Amino acid sequence: MPFSRRTFLGATAASVAATTRVFGATKAKLRIGLLLPYSGTYAALGNNITDAMKLAAGERGGKLAGREIEWIAVDDESDPAKAPANVNKLIAGEKVDILTGPVHSGVAMAMMQIVRQEKTLTIVTNAGAQAVTGQLCAPNVFRTSFSNWQTSYPCADVMLKDGRKKVVLMFWNYSFGQESMAAFKEGFTKGGGTVIKEIAVPFPQTEFQANLSEIASLKPDAVFVFFAGAGAAKFVRDYADAGLRDKVPLYGSGFLTEGVLGAQGPAAEGIKTTLHYADSLDNAQNRKFRDAFKTATGREADVYAVAGYDTVHALAAALEKVQGDASAQKELIAALEGVRIDSPRGPFRFSKAHNPVQNVYVRQVKGGKEAVLGVALKNAEDPAFGCAMVK
Ligand code: PHB
Repeated sequence: MPFSRRTFLGATAASVAATTRVFGATKAKLRIGLLLPYSGTYAALGNNITDAMKLAAGERGGKLAGREIEWIAVDDESDPAKAPANVNKLIAGEKVDILTGPVHSGVAMAMMQIVRQEKTLTIVTNAGAQAVTGQLCAPNVFRTSFSNWQTSYPCADVMLKDGRKKVVLMFWNYSFGQESMAAFKEGFTKGGGTVIKEIAVPFPQTEFQANLSEIASLKPDAVFVFFAGAGAAKFVRDYADAGLRDKVPLYGSGFLTEGVLGAQGPAAEGIKTTLHYADSLDNAQNRKFRDAFKTATGREADVYAVAGYDTVHALAAALEKVQGDASAQKELIAALEGVRIDSPRGPFRFSKAHNPVQNVYVRQVKGGKEAVLGVALKNAEDPAFGCAMVK
């Protein structure tokens, strides 16, 4: 049957549109937004995430699925109050194709309100707030780092096995610290332990003296802690200076020593933590990654760099499935859900709630290095409480 003029024109217009889309997709730069701290106590974390993202892109010839990258970074200052404006700057102002970040859970909570509404494809590169892959979970939101629960709950068992029955908790008093303590306490009390005191420190304050005197007088079996970045470096040094290091052992999620072992020096010796990564993990991917990061930046890699690195490799693998067309969001989400990565941390995939399924390791600082004592939880999957995508 001959084409009617109308069908013919329609078909032509459609094929022109398709050509333009593919052409556009291969030509236009992929706009990746980074909402990260480049100042304040978490600045080193933001820098390591950023540099590892760029390292991973460099390993792919500077392109993801054939598209060059435009990086658009905003210093979020780890300030939740400034988060709505910063997120809008990237989404509405800069029209990013993909939003990544943040480090701080409070910033992440503010970001979630906006990206759920705008449907921006978002990959959380650190913040562990439970709601990101729990109550507020969304098809367009993935996380390559961890949930609070994954980093804190397993430490309860480690401490109980070490015979620590009466403990003090000490933490920065915002969502991450609160959730981290709740997850720890759940495991610890279930196993017969008692929390004798909870010391909440306002974020990002680092005046610990009065609290350390109180710990000395309470004489607990151990202290379970959340501080990170520059604050963690200072806390561990102050703890040793107060004469507590050899009397009351320190435990925590691994953020207590990540990226700051050099700054902590001998004060960190003996600290036991749980985390989904350790510098000394003995696998080929980790060795290659650490060498490449050191060569590129002159610094040691850490857990923050791992999340940045995996974010770009996961995104690249998924984008290849849609020929680089980030606007094909449904297909891109399905591709991300299917990604399997041989990460420096070990095997990594996304759960139904889009949180990493990953091993959690027991680590201890020995001779200035993070030694791996064993696996606390193999293929740990966050419970994803309240996530409607998980049935
Ligand atoms: C968080 O706020 O979620 C957070 C910040 C720093 C860390 C870990 C978690 O090292």
